[in-house]
Amino acid sequence: MNILVTGGAGFIGSHVTDALLQRGHQVSVLDALVPQVHGDVTTPRYLARAAEFVRGDVRDENAWRRALTHADAVIHLAAEVGVGQSMYEITRYVDANTFGTARLWQILTHEKTRVHKVLIASSMSIYGEGAYECAQHGRVTPALRGVEQLRARDWELPCPHCGAMLTPVLTPEDKPLAPTSTYAITKRDQEELSLTLGRAYDIPCVAFRFFNTYGSRQALSNPYTGAIAMFGARLKNGHPPLVYEDGKQTRDFIHVGDIVRALLAALESPRGDGRAFNVGTGQPRTLLDIAQQLARVMDLDLEPHVTQQFRAGDIRHCAADPTQLRATYDLPPPIPFEQGVGEWWDWAEREMAADRVLQANTELAARQLVR
Ligand SMILES: NC(=O)c1ccc[n+]([C@@H]2O[C@H](COP(=O)([O-])OP(=O)(O)OC[C@H]3O[C@@H](n4cnc5c(N)ncnc54)[C@H](O)[C@@H]3O)[C@@H](O)[C@H]2O)c1
Ligand SMILES: [Zn+2]
Repeated sequence: MNILVTGGAGFIGSHVTDALLQRGHQVSVLDALVPQVHGDVTTPRYLARAAEFVRGDVRDENAWRRALTHADAVIHLAAEVGVGQSMYEITRYVDANTFGTARLWQILTHEKTRVHKVLIASSMSIYGEGAYECAQHGRVTPALRGVEQLRARDWELPCPHCGAMLTPVLTPEDKPLAPTSTYAITKRDQEELSLTLGRAYDIPCVAFRFFNTYGSRQALSNPYTGAIAMFGARLKNGHPPLVYEDGKQTRDFIHVGDIVRALLAALESPRGDGRAFNVGTGQPRTLLDIAQQLARVMDLDLEPHVTQQFRAGDIRHCAADPTQLRATYDLPPPIPFEQGVGEWWDWAEREMAADRVLQANTELAARQLVR
C-alpha cells in the first residue's frame, strides 16, 4: 500500500514511517517542520530516506492534494501538541488541528482519491478527568476540580453526590467526553469529524486516543510536550524536574512502539473500523514516580522539585482501560515501563536538550494558567 503519514517527521510519525517501510509499504510524509518541534532543520536526520517527503502545511489544501496523489491510506498525526500553550495560542491550535482535518475531509469527499482508510490521532485529553468510583455511588464522572479547592492544595476528587473521597479506576471509551483545553477540543473535533464523515462516505476510519506517549525522538527541547521529555530536559541540564501538585497525580505512559503496533493493526484489519479506541497500558503511574525513575535511569542523584503549583485544566487521574483495543486487535503485551525508559535514555543520552521548562512555566504563570 501507499500510505500518507502526516506529521511523519515528528515523534510518533517517524516511528510509524519506519515501521511501514519495514513492512514493505510505500510512504509519503506531509509535515510542515514546525520550528517549536524541529528547531530550524530542513529535514530531521532520522527521517527515513525511503519515504517521499512533502514539506507542507495541513492548513493548505494544495499541500494535502500533493501529498494525497498516490495514497491508499492516511495516518493523520500532524498537529500542534502543547496543551498549556493551546490555552493562549487558540487560533493556531484550532487552525492546524480542527481546520487541518476539515481540509482533508473536504478533499476526500469532493475529489477522486484512492484513499480507503483513515487513521486519526485523538488523545486521552478529550476525557477530562478519568473515571472514578465512590464506595456508595459506584461509577461517577466528576467535573474538574474548582480553583478554590486547588488553592487549598486539596488535590483529590470528592464524589459529586456525597463528597466522599473517590478512587480512580481505568477509563473506558464510553466515559462522557469533557475536554478541558483548546488542544483537547481540537482532538475531539478531529475524532468526531473523521468518524462521522468516514461513516457517511463509507471511508473506513479509526480514531486512537493515545495516552501519554514516550520514546526516542520526542522533542526534548520543546517545553510544551510530554512529561518524560520535560523531566528529561531538566535532568540532562542538572536541574530537578518540576512536578506540579503533590506529585501523586497519575497518568498512563505508553511506549511509542505500542502506539505503532496499534496503528499497523488497524491499517491491516477492518475489525475496528468506525470506532474510537484507547491506546494505553492500563497501568497508572504517579508523576513523582516517573520523575524519580528517570533520575535513576540517568544515574542522577536529583530529587524532583514538587512545586505544589497547579495548572489550569489539569486533571488528577486518568489511565486507559485498554480492553476494547485488545479485544479487537491482536497485539502483544505493552512494553514494560522500565524497559521503555531504558530504551528512551539510550537515545536521549546523546541528544542535545535545551531546558526551556522554567521559561514556559513563567509564560503560563503570567497568564494565570499556572498558580
Ligand atoms: N505524544 C503524545 O503523548 C500524544 C498523546 C496523545 C495524542 N498525540 C497525538 O499524536 C500526534 C503526533 O504527536 P507527536 O507526539 O508525534 O508530536 P510531534 O510534535 O513530535 O509531531 C507532530 C508533527 O506534526 C507536524 N505539524 C504540526 N503542525 C503542522 C501543520 N500545520 N502542518 C503540517 N505538519 C504539522 C510537526 O512539524 C511535527 O513533525 C498528534 O496528533 C498528537 O496530538 C500525541
Ligand atoms: Zn458518593
